[in-house]
Amino acid sequence: MATLDLSVTVAGLAMNTPLYNASGVWCTNTPQLREVLDCPYAGAVVTKSCTLAHREGNPKPRYRSFNGVTGSINSMGLPNNGVMYYIQAAQELAPHKPYFMSLCGLTREENLQMLSTLQHDVGAHVPIAGLELNLSCPNIAGKPQIGYDFDAMDEMLRESFECFDRLPVGVKLPPYFDPAHFDAAAAVLRRYPAIRWVTCINSIGNGLLVDPLAERTLLTPRSGLGGIGGASIKPTALANVWSLRQRLPDSVDVVGCGGVARGVDVFEHLLCGASAVQIGTLIRDRGLDQFRVVTDELAFIMRSKGYTRISDFRGTLQAAEPEEWPLE
Ligand code: DHB
Repeated sequence: MATLDLSVTVAGLAMNTPLYNASGVWCTNTPQLREVLDCPYAGAVVTKSCTLAHREGNPKPRYRSFNGVTGSINSMGLPNNGVMYYIQAAQELAPHKPYFMSLCGLTREENLQMLSTLQHDVGAHVPIAGLELNLSCPNIAGKPQIGYDFDAMDEMLRESFECFDRLPVGVKLPPYFDPAHFDAAAAVLRRYPAIRWVTCINSIGNGLLVDPLAERTLLTPRSGLGGIGGASIKPTALANVWSLRQRLPDSVDVVGCGGVARGVDVFEHLLCGASAVQIGTLIRDRGLDQFRVVTDELAFIMRSKGYTRISDFRGTLQAAEPEEWPLE
């Protein structure tokens, strides 16, 4: 049987498998980051989005799964250990696979201050592979998602690249729901050739889940509103991966995120042009062993189709064949 090569690259960084954690899941502290790094079926790790200072986040309950483990709602409120913690974690962990840091300042000044720290105060020996600017946190009261305000996004990127050029940079995007918004987002991103990847999608922001027996919201913060993840967001995630892949130059990788519950979901993300695929809700609810389960399922699909490497099918999605029947 031909051996399978599951290796991929993101921003030119080699990964032995296309899978890694979605930011926010299993990546808030050093032991969790170590577990992802030690997992042979995860090709990289990305940290919890960090702010300048440690944050406790929103009151609990702030995360719930629903429909078994296929869905989630969260309003975490950026609980994290602060930017210095994740820099030191990189140093301590000495990762042998890409270690991405996710930044999500509460203000423009805070983002610039974190970037300035990373530009000037971090030794060249600290093994951070790249930075991801999170433009899409939906859970902070009074702070709209910057990825939905194209002028603000443009300004944030312009200022970021004025003060930071030390490491590869990517952005985490919110889901878009209209081709005009894919066009507008891509037009902004194309202005910054330093952008090496886009991760799409963040959770679908500001959903509401109701407990009909208790007649209460599932979450406490923000009147119960929270970001939706899990199987139900896969069509939106795939549409964003596919649409941005078509609109961005080859120098920008698209990292797929959203709706991965099985290996076939990863296969679909890759067909839509994803260079790598992140897993959130599934890992959060069932544990890191799911990286192995999903990898085995992906390998089975590839073998049964005669593919030996990811590049055999990545981005090759075809349009449905026109047909007369069925009629609808
Ligand atoms: C949080 C949620 C997000 O979707 C995100 O991108 C960043 C932070 C949070 O609530 O902690």
